[in-house]
Amino acid sequence: MSNPISLIETEARAVIGAAADLAALDAARVALLGKSGEVTALLKTLGGMDSEARKSFGAAVNALKSSLTEALEQRRAVLEASALETRLAAEFVDVSLPGRVEARGSIHPISRTIEELTALFGAMGFGVKDGPDIEEDWYNFGALNIPAHHPARAMMDTFYLKAAGRNKPMVLRTHTSPLQIRTMLEQKPPIRVIVPGRTYRSDHDATHSPMFHQCEGLVIDRDITLAHLKGCLVDFLRAYFEIPDLKARFRASYFPFTEPSMEIDIAWDRKTGAIGGGNDWLEILGAGMVHPNVLANCGLDPREFQGFAFGMGIERITMLKHGIADLRNFYESDLRWLAHYGTSPLAPVTLHEGDPA
Ligand code: DAH
Repeated sequence: MSNPISLIETEARAVIGAAADLAALDAARVALLGKSGEVTALLKTLGGMDSEARKSFGAAVNALKSSLTEALEQRRAVLEASALETRLAAEFVDVSLPGRVEARGSIHPISRTIEELTALFGAMGFGVKDGPDIEEDWYNFGALNIPAHHPARAMMDTFYLKAAGRNKPMVLRTHTSPLQIRTMLEQKPPIRVIVPGRTYRSDHDATHSPMFHQCEGLVIDRDITLAHLKGCLVDFLRAYFEIPDLKARFRASYFPFTEPSMEIDIAWDRKTGAIGGGNDWLEILGAGMVHPNVLANCGLDPREFQGFAFGMGIERITMLKHGIADLRNFYESDLRWLAHYGTSPLAPVTLHEGDPA
């Protein structure tokens, strides 16, 4: 009589080898090792044997079980690999095919300018930060060296908020400058960030909106000088306005949070509105070296760290670049206007070289 175990093994291996797919393989597994499987049935007979027979037969059945388990696993691996191959062949995607271009809608000019600022300053090593629109009075004013009753507060037409449940006076931020404070408190120098974001003042006419956008910039390190400020901002203005030799003028001014402070003008022609040409100057942004009091308010030693800051109106630079006459158009959601001044969502932001030299 041939050994039933080796017979079962030979037959079982044939069935396993012939299993054409994972379902057939699973059926084979159940028929062999399942509750009422052939090998399980053999194991059940062990109970009725004397201890000598049980020992040798038991070892043989267990060896059979593990050898078949292994055979099942190997076959499973082969079948899975070929199933994957079939699927990959069926689901082939030609990534080199051109996309189906269906540019719906457009990027709002304000969003577009923010994308451009992010790309241009990003190329100069600046990160982007944001912060709360509802700001603590201290970050918006006090920490920026604007004490209570300072005229700069009145100049900013502030929306003060009722301090519901808070013990700190709150405002709608009147500028993005409070992010100078938040950044210096959160991270150690070297710092290089821009902060594009919404700002609020109680003001409304063709050139003022109660909600508008600014972009702040802050650079803090050891040995930062006015020369860095000038180089950085001239490069930025030339790149943003896409005029490689755009002339810029640095004019002394006053901000409580910078010393010295300046306003930066670019050349333009008052009659034609052309930027770059002409003999007139157009104010674009405020800037200066961060005031020692501001550094100290943020726990930085002004003898060790210096830096510069700048701030500009996003609507303003957008209007100038694209010849938009009325600020209110930005917020009217007129689809014709948006189609004209918006940018295709598929158009990448390109970096223009600032300095031709
Ligand atoms: N925060 C100023 C404003 O809203 C703009 C400004 C001026 C920001 C000079 C600066 C700066 O960082 O250095 O009028």
